[in-house]
Amino acid sequence: MAIKKNNKTSELPEILPNHIGFIMDGNGRWAKKRMMPRTFGHAEGGRTFEKIVRYCRDIGIKCISFYAFSTENWKRSSEEITALMGLFMQYLNRVSDYYKEEVRMIFVGDRSALSPELIALMDKVEEDTKNFDKMTLYLAINYGGRDEIKYAARRIAQKVKDGELNPEDITEKTISDHIYTTEYPDIDLLIRPSGELRLSNYMLWQCAYAEFYFSDVLWPDFLPAELDKALHAYAGRQRRFGGV
Ligand code: IPE
Ligand code: IPE
Ligand code: MG
Repeated sequence: MAIKKNNKTSELPEILPNHIGFIMDGNGRWAKKRMMPRTFGHAEGGRTFEKIVRYCRDIGIKCISFYAFSTENWKRSSEEITALMGLFMQYLNRVSDYYKEEVRMIFVGDRSALSPELIALMDKVEEDTKNFDKMTLYLAINYGGRDEIKYAARRIAQKVKDGELNPEDITEKTISDHIYTTEYPDIDLLIRPSGELRLSNYMLWQCAYAEFYFSDVLWPDFLPAELDKALHAYAGRQRRFGGV
């Protein structure tokens, strides 16, 4: 597939992933290299996030998810947490500028620990974008893969307790239907920049058959040209799903 990008035509592979997951990592190190505070890196990481969202939409990716804040990130300093929450608020406050791009937004994660202002904004953006279908963007805030499985287990247990479900009728689909959103498909391509080779509790259930792409580039520098490399790598993978 050839698409026009910055007046240059870049060749994209024919086979593109349906759902790309991004672990946005390396903002702090990016800032440190510039002798700047970590929050400077988060702000630049936010700009990269917006560029990648737009690019994915332009090339026809149907579903993207981003790890923005993990259930473990509360271990960071209160200054850094406040700055990150502020960036989420800033972005969501002006996201309506992008509605013309027709991207549906869904938030995943445990909202109960977030501020009422942030929760209200998340609800509004989800409501305002719910009929857009060019692409779906999942933003994971206070998200943990184990926390999500715990959440599903509790909901299923409640149904069993209420007599709505028999334990022997619980299937993999039952679990998929009770995680944060029933609508997100499995991750096809999981991208982690910054040189770390781990999942850090991201979408454990949805990554069962994901292809992994790791890069040493720090997230703020992970611009569309880097994504192209990942897409080419993905297109060259042979996915067998246990078959031959
Ligand atoms: C961003 O990168 C990830 C978030 C938690 C927002 P980091 O803040 O983890 O950056 P590094 O890994 O310290 O460089
Ligand atoms: C993963 O990055 C979480 C997000 C990108 C939001 P971390 O920087 O928190 O992961 P670790 O601590 O290096 O595993
Ligand atoms: Mg990190």
